[in-house]
Amino acid sequence: MAEEFGTFPSREGGTELALPPTEPHRGPAPRQAVFYNPAMALDRDIGVAFANALADRRGAPMRGWEMLSATGVRGLRMANESDLFSFLLQTEAHPEAAAVLEENAERFGARGVLARAGDARELPPEAPFDYVDLDPYGSPLPFLATALGALAPGGILAVTATDMMVLAGVQPKVCALRYGARPVRGRLGPEGGLRILIQHLAELARARGRVLRPLLGYLHDHHVRAYVEIAPRLPTTGPDPISVIDPTSWTGPSLGSSGPVGPMWVGPLFDVSLVRSLRAPAHAERPREIAAFLARLAEEAEVDRPFYFECNELARALGLARPPSYAAMRDGLIAAGARCARTHARSGAFRSDAPRALVERVAAQASARAPGPSD
Ligand SMILES: C[S@@+](CC[C@H](N)C(=O)[O-])C[C@H]1O[C@@H](n2cnc3c(N)ncnc32)[C@H](O)[C@@H]1O
Repeated sequence: MAEEFGTFPSREGGTELALPPTEPHRGPAPRQAVFYNPAMALDRDIGVAFANALADRRGAPMRGWEMLSATGVRGLRMANESDLFSFLLQTEAHPEAAAVLEENAERFGARGVLARAGDARELPPEAPFDYVDLDPYGSPLPFLATALGALAPGGILAVTATDMMVLAGVQPKVCALRYGARPVRGRLGPEGGLRILIQHLAELARARGRVLRPLLGYLHDHHVRAYVEIAPRLPTTGPDPISVIDPTSWTGPSLGSSGPVGPMWVGPLFDVSLVRSLRAPAHAERPREIAAFLARLAEEAEVDRPFYFECNELARALGLARPPSYAAMRDGLIAAGARCARTHARSGAFRSDAPRALVERVAAQASARAPGPSD
């Protein structure tokens, strides 16, 4: 039956299923009837790592819904390679993809998986769920009301956005219309996009009397993804950490913007203990990449500040003869009583709780001490 739709028996990570043939490539894959993007395998490895960490933390298995399943690879890997779910519903609207999905899911019925063709904008009768996964083409906005409506109190919502032209500042007018925010443009645009997405989720949660807390938010290639917990808002719940950032008073990394940006989430992206507990899955598809990625997240979660500095960028902005090394920046900042950690967002970049003026002072000193090309 799978062959009828051009799929063939395959495997991703530790999970066997029918997949369409594809050429590996980076970035968003072209839309196909039966969609499968091998470039997102690392992202699904992260999903399995997250599922294992969450299963350990929660103790009791969860009821999940993967709204936009395509072949089912993401949800099936989580269901098969972790003990997170007692039940996982998978839905897919495209008839050909749904046929492949149903055939794939059938093999995992014993792990509580049920798949069917359906429009994810409609609330399934199996709601509420403890975990809802939303992995759309482009923007998640058309599905968010249903996703939030389907979530049990204290449940986890996992959301991907690939509309990075909008979120990361190339199309600011569309961002204002879609997300009600002015984006950051340039090198910090993708992180700005992640923070705009989370603030939008927080607004929707607040409208339902709930409060959002990110467990893990990251950017990778051409997308951002956030795993957030959405709990009932209590009388003691404080205001959400959401701000419009005015570059004239902002003391963090330079946003390269002439006017205010946001509103955006300026609170933590990571639940430190959960991020520390993330482990590469036993059958990861990209074992080396995921191990490095998770190690970097664990380091970064200790200094969870909005936006990051880059040695090259500091050298350029300050007119330094040579960029300081990361090691010199780290040593200099620690000696000055500040904290510093590398970020997953870009190699050679780091987060710090030091104000920009101190980071720049340390950069100038470190650059002056750095060996020149002829040394
Ligand atoms: C980006 S793909 C999902 C990829 C999948 N999660 C994976 O990891 O391979 C988005 C899927 O959503 C499906 N889709 C789009 N609109 C839908 C809707 N209203 N209801 C259900 N599925 C929909 C598309 O047919 C497509 O298969």
